Amino acid sequence: MRFFIFIVFAILSMQICTIGAKIPAVIVFGDSSVDAGNNNHLETVLKSNFRPYGRDFFGGKATGRFSNGRVPSDFISESFGLRPYVPAYLDPAYNISDFAAGVCFASAGTGYDNATSDVLSVIPLWKEVEYYKEYQKKLRHHLGDKKANAIISQAVYLTSMGTNDFLENYYTLNNRRSQYNINQYQDFLVTIAESLIKKLYGLGARKISLGGLPPMGCLPLERTTNFMIGNGGECNGDYNKVAMVFNRKLGGLVKRLNVKLSGSKIVFSNPYPIFQQIVQKPSSFGFEAAAVACCSTGLFEMGYMCDQYNPFTCSDANRYVFWDSFHPTEKTNRIISQHLFKTVLSKLL
Ligand SMILES: *[C@@H]1O[C@H](CO)[C@@H](O)[C@H](O)[C@H]1NC(C)=O
Ligand SMILES: *[C@@H]1O[C@H](CO)[C@@H](O)[C@H](O)[C@H]1NC(C)=O
Repeated sequence: MRFFIFIVFAILSMQICTIGAKIPAVIVFGDSSVDAGNNNHLETVLKSNFRPYGRDFFGGKATGRFSNGRVPSDFISESFGLRPYVPAYLDPAYNISDFAAGVCFASAGTGYDNATSDVLSVIPLWKEVEYYKEYQKKLRHHLGDKKANAIISQAVYLTSMGTNDFLENYYTLNNRRSQYNINQYQDFLVTIAESLIKKLYGLGARKISLGGLPPMGCLPLERTTNFMIGNGGECNGDYNKVAMVFNRKLGGLVKRLNVKLSGSKIVFSNPYPIFQQIVQKPSSFGFEAAAVACCSTGLFEMGYMCDQYNPFTCSDANRYVFWDSFHPTEKTNRIISQHLFKTVLSKLL
C-alpha cells in the first residue's frame, strides 16, 4: 500500500514537473557546429550536403550537417522533449508550422566577427538575427501574437560559434592580427557576444545558452598543421590556451548579463572540459582514434574533399572522435550534448 501511494505520488509529481517544464522550441544561432543545412542555399564552397556526410542521419540523408549524423542542437532539442532534430530555416522542405517547434539559423564558417563570415561568403551573425526577426513576424502571422509571444519567451536559445574567428580568420589572415593582439581580439568578440545576447533579450528571448569553444588545438587539421611545422602530431597548445581564456571571458559575460537582464536565465555551455577528456582518453568513451578523423585520410579533408569516392573513409564512425578534420562524429556530439544537458541546460527547464 505504501509502495502504491509512493508510485502515485511519484507519477503525480513527474507530471507537475513536465507541465512546468515545457520548452516549446529550440532556436539556434552559430556555425558549422550546429548548422542544419542553411549553407546548402548559399553560394559558398563550405557545404556538406553530399555523401558520406549524413550517412548515419535519419534516412542516411546528407542534410548539410557537418557530421555523419546529428549535431549537438539536434540532441539538445530531443533532450527537451522536442523533435530529435532542429530544421534549417532556409530549407524549403519546412515551413513556419515546423519552425514553431524549433529552427536553426546557423551557417557553417561564420563567427562573431563580420570579417569571418566574409572569408567563405556565409551568413554573418547579424544576418542570422535578421532571419530570426523575419521568423518572429511569420510566427505571429501564423499563430497570432499571444501564442507566438509565448513561444518566443519560453523557447531555449542556443548559440555556438567562435572557432572560425580564431582559426579561419585571426590566425590565417593578417587584417585582424594587425589591428588587435590576441587578448584584444578576444575582448572584441566578447563585446559582439554581449550585443547578440542583448539583442535576443530585446526581441523577447529569456532562456539563453551561450556556447563555449572546444579544445580547438586538438582538431585533426590543427594537429596536421602542427606536424607539418615540426611539432609532431600533437594538439596545438597555444590554440587550446586561447580557447580556455576565451571561455573564461564568456563565462564572466554570462554572470554579468544574468544580473543586468532582469527575468533572464542565461547559462554558459562549455564543451571544453568534456571534449578535452574525450580527446585525452578516447578509449574510456569507446573510441579508438582521436588524432585523425574518419573521413578520407583524416588529416586535413573536410567539405568537398571528403566525398563518397574516397577509398580511405572509415566504415564505423563510432570508433572515431572526429568525423572530418574539423568536426566531431555524431557519437562525440551526443556525448557532449548529453553531458551539457545534464550539467547546464536542464537548468533552463
Ligand atoms: C506546412 O506544410 C505542411 C505540409 O508539409 C502543410 O500541411 C501546412 O499547411 C503548411 N503550413 C503552412 C502554414 O504553410
Ligand atoms: C557587422 O555588420 C553589420 C551590418 O553591416 C553592422 O550593423 C554591425 O555593426 C557590424 N558589426 C561590427 C562589430 O562591426
